[in-house]
Amino acid sequence: MQSILSRIRDRSARIGVIGQGYVGLPLALVFAESGFRVTGFDVDSGKVEALRRGESYIRHIGPDRVARAAASGALQASTDFDRLRECDAILICVPTPLGRHREPDNSFIHETAESISKRLHAGQLVVLESTTYPGTTNGEVRPILERGGLRTPEHFLLAFSPEREDPGNAQFSTRSIPKVVGGVNRESTEAAVELYAAALEKVVPVSSAEVAESGKLLENVFRSVNIALVNELKMIFDRMGIDVWEVIEAAKTKPFGFMPFYPGPGLGGHCIPLDPFYLAWKAAEHGEWARFIELAGEINTRMPAWVVAKTARALNEEGKPLKRSSVLVLGLAYKANVDDDRESPSYEIIELLQAAGAAVEYCDPYFPETKPTRKHALSLRSVPLDPQAFARFDAIVVSTAHEAFKDLRLYASAKLVIDTRNIVPQALVGDRVRVVKA
Ligand SMILES: NC(=O)c1ccc[n+]([C@@H]2O[C@H](COP(=O)([O-])OP(=O)(O)OC[C@H]3O[C@@H](n4cnc5c(N)ncnc54)[C@H](O)[C@@H]3O)[C@@H](O)[C@H]2O)c1
Repeated sequence: MQSILSRIRDRSARIGVIGQGYVGLPLALVFAESGFRVTGFDVDSGKVEALRRGESYIRHIGPDRVARAAASGALQASTDFDRLRECDAILICVPTPLGRHREPDNSFIHETAESISKRLHAGQLVVLESTTYPGTTNGEVRPILERGGLRTPEHFLLAFSPEREDPGNAQFSTRSIPKVVGGVNRESTEAAVELYAAALEKVVPVSSAEVAESGKLLENVFRSVNIALVNELKMIFDRMGIDVWEVIEAAKTKPFGFMPFYPGPGLGGHCIPLDPFYLAWKAAEHGEWARFIELAGEINTRMPAWVVAKTARALNEEGKPLKRSSVLVLGLAYKANVDDDRESPSYEIIELLQAAGAAVEYCDPYFPETKPTRKHALSLRSVPLDPQAFARFDAIVVSTAHEAFKDLRLYASAKLVIDTRNIVPQALVGDRVRVVKA
């Protein structure tokens, strides 16, 4: 194994990153920018073609970074998995969605492991980055890789290192976010630590792949449970006529032992709504119930329906039924200032409003039109971002806190605003517009 370590140290190691999405592309770029030759693999030929032309398809990843890496030859892209043979280190960043019954779908990991297994040769390091339940790396990926007769650590090395990407966060980047690494044996941990330390600022070795897998899940469960807690408090305080946002501002002045979480219209993104259920599923196999995870999931998934109920009540108070009312939903993205709409609660809000007979449109400068997704087919175009367009609607539901929606002039002629993000203060828009927090 000496050779992989020395190839990492002198930057002659070639790195393959499988899956060029939100996680894989920034990772490939960081290694390319650290002096490695990187090949980005993807089954999506559109993405591979774009990378070859030096174009970024993810808005917060600067096109100049991709253009530079592609022009210098440091980043290549390919759909030809035979080229995995050329790689000294292979990092797996494929999706880990949930199935229809909220069960983990590890099929992308399995397919990828099969495809590496066919090309595996002595001296390679394989690292799984996709979020998954504890035991996947050692119990599922390892047997597939060892099928051809090679063994770890004698012939190849295998580790898990979770991704902690926060798309659009200007304060932290792939390079500066500490990276937890756990190998299926000591040699694998050492090699993976060496690899990441060559490109990232801080690497945190742990004793096993299972600890690394579980650490990632703890981070996401922590967020899901705390968001559910404030969502529940929001509903309770709402009944009492107390503004949860003001309560959080007050509580957060405590200089120790408190961390603010904020309510919203429901969970979105690739991680928080999905990953905790990977652990809940695995817990059941061990005869345990992940009650916090299930309860948090139940509360958070109820949020779109709660927002729609608040909208219906507010319209009713104006003497209008939701049926045939016109409603504008602000934001398709699941969080502010990104063009990522995966698992966004806005879709469910729109569909629930439509099901109740409302005429629904949306506005999101990051999405000029809706694209069909695995679950939704809306066929809508974004309403322009201007006060006249906004004035047409009986109600406006703020679902995403995009910077663009904080321009209060937009609401100058609005009638009713249902604000799930606390960005339209009643005091600043004046009495003519009614603002209801939801
Ligand atoms: N997006 C995030 O912020 C984030 C953060 C932390 C962890 N993660 C985890 O990282 C993993 C990847 O997430 P993502 O957000 O990058 O997903 P993504 O959907 O943006 O990217 C996945 C990519 O993999 C490609 N792909 C699918 N099957 C493939 C295969 N068999 N071979 C090669 N490529 C294949 C897809 O075409 C896509 O380009 C998931 O496990 C996710 O939970 C994501």
